[in-house]
Amino acid sequence: MDTIKVKVDHVLGHINRGAIEAMLPEIMAAKRHLLNGDAAGNDFLGWVNLPEETDAALLARLKNDVHRMQEKSQVMVVVGIGGSYLGARMVIEALQSEFAAMLPNRKPLIVYAGHTLGEDYYGQLLTLLDSVDYTTCVISKSGTTTEPAVAFRIVKAHMEKKYGHEEAQRRIVAITDARRGALHDIATQEGYPMYVIPDNVGGRFSVLTPVGLLPIAMAGYDIDKLLQGARDMRHICIDNETLEDNPALMYAAVRNALYRKGIKIEMLVGCQLNLRYLAEWWKQLYGESEGKDGKGLLPHSITITTDLHSMGQYVQDGERIMMETMLRVGKPGVTVPVPTDERNLDGINYLTCKSLTEINDCAADGTIAAHNAGGVPVMEITVPMIDEYFIGQLIYFFEFACGVSGYTLGVNPFDQPGVEAYKRNMFHLLGKPGF
Ligand code: PA5
Repeated sequence: MDTIKVKVDHVLGHINRGAIEAMLPEIMAAKRHLLNGDAAGNDFLGWVNLPEETDAALLARLKNDVHRMQEKSQVMVVVGIGGSYLGARMVIEALQSEFAAMLPNRKPLIVYAGHTLGEDYYGQLLTLLDSVDYTTCVISKSGTTTEPAVAFRIVKAHMEKKYGHEEAQRRIVAITDARRGALHDIATQEGYPMYVIPDNVGGRFSVLTPVGLLPIAMAGYDIDKLLQGARDMRHICIDNETLEDNPALMYAAVRNALYRKGIKIEMLVGCQLNLRYLAEWWKQLYGESEGKDGKGLLPHSITITTDLHSMGQYVQDGERIMMETMLRVGKPGVTVPVPTDERNLDGINYLTCKSLTEINDCAADGTIAAHNAGGVPVMEITVPMIDEYFIGQLIYFFEFACGVSGYTLGVNPFDQPGVEAYKRNMFHLLGKPGF
């Protein structure tokens, strides 16, 4: 089976193989906590078996609703924040054309709301919604998060004005808790189709529930392949007990070993622009899971070669506090040749026998060598290609590694108490009763 590979050659100048291998007992203990559910956060381990347990009846119902709403929409507004939108956005932006908004005859364009309070954004969104047919998917596990609640009120009012109350009801789907929360109550009263986020799956681990699956299917992508990729990676992560055979364990071991050597920042280096949101999703996954109790690598990201012309200077020569994890893609979805030009005025004819991917790979290899020589350990993760199947593998790989890594670090990877502090201040400033 083609699968994700982790390569550590360019870490070995900074820690030796023995130090990585020495992590194995702790890594295996962390893995056992995940599988046995006998450590902190064990009420949030539903994601571990999601790829196997996702019910065929649920998928059939979801595809049915998607089909019905695709017929009504040029645009779908996905309302949500954090784990309630980043997973879907990561998959959609990895797969869709960068120019999707301009393409004719496409599946509905997915736009987002509830992830910002910027007023200009909502002004622009409403202007767009005036001129297109649209549906809305509102997602909140708690059903009480302020940003999506405000955004949904704005969008719902626009829909009811544009389509009337009854047709608006047919154009909205809600994804929330099975029993509690304001969104659950609104959806019940209004009769919106409703999907449930399982109690035991936290927001940042929820992309393989309807939270991610519905918007991804709505955008026209194959959620069966996504789940198959996750299923296959689940077997790799669960069945293999050595670092060499288990990429998730290797990744967790190396980042913890480097953290113990004083590394403070992990920079995820994407080699393609369409992986920018994968980095955003990864930052939430690792930042919220590990950044607590005064511990944790700070997750940061760059895209090459774009950011080599900005952040590249810091990585090469700034404070020596970071490691890089380079996310490489084996083969491109399309081939774009560099044209020959007999006059060669730009002097780049030496490149015309190479594909853009070969040129990009040389940029990546050159970057690894340069940053490594500059004192930055670089781990490489290679995914064979970017499609639904391999994104499914990536999702499960990063989630499993995150659980193992968090337990190895000695934190509860499945809570996020720090996210509450700003909310209390904001509510006080806004005059919310009780704050
Ligand atoms: O990972 C998490 O739990 C958070 O990022 C949540 O997804 C985010 O705060 C949104 O919460 P909710 O879905 O309850 O609106």
